[in-house]
Amino acid sequence: MKVLMVCLGNICRSPLAEGILKTKAAEKNLEWTIESRGTGSWHIGEQADPRSIAEAKKNGIDITDQRGQQLQKSDLQEFDLIYAMDTSNYNNILKLASSEEERQKVKMILNESKPNMNQVVPDPYWSDDGFSHVFELLEEACEIIVEKYR
Ligand code: 4NP
Repeated sequence: MKVLMVCLGNICRSPLAEGILKTKAAEKNLEWTIESRGTGSWHIGEQADPRSIAEAKKNGIDITDQRGQQLQKSDLQEFDLIYAMDTSNYNNILKLASSEEERQKVKMILNESKPNMNQVVPDPYWSDDGFSHVFELLEEACEIIVEKYR
């Protein structure tokens, strides 16, 4: 499986999602490729937000080696599953899709844990208090993803 996590900046939510899913896949000896991207270009080459790094560390996960990357059209070909954190990400990913097969790969990540509800992972960038909540939501969804696709 090749799984891509996508948010807006690729510094808060999708780096956490990448770190959590990588940890769970490793625990189950799954040889998956797991990466993350932002739909925006502001944070290309940057480390994850310090608050995401701290939240991951609190949970025993090191995401300090991640660097911001912007989503490219070729990512839709390369990856099998592409998870959007929110509705805006979802719509922006779909704009890059060039076939029905590519469109089918794109999913709202919380539909794995709360099916058909199209709930969003709230953007914690502008507040300090959202990071633990984001971690909990992503942890629940990633647990289901490893079990569903292993
Ligand atoms: P993320 O959060 O999409 O979870 O990485 C954001 C990071 C940066 C910005 C917005 C959201 N920004 O406007 O720079």
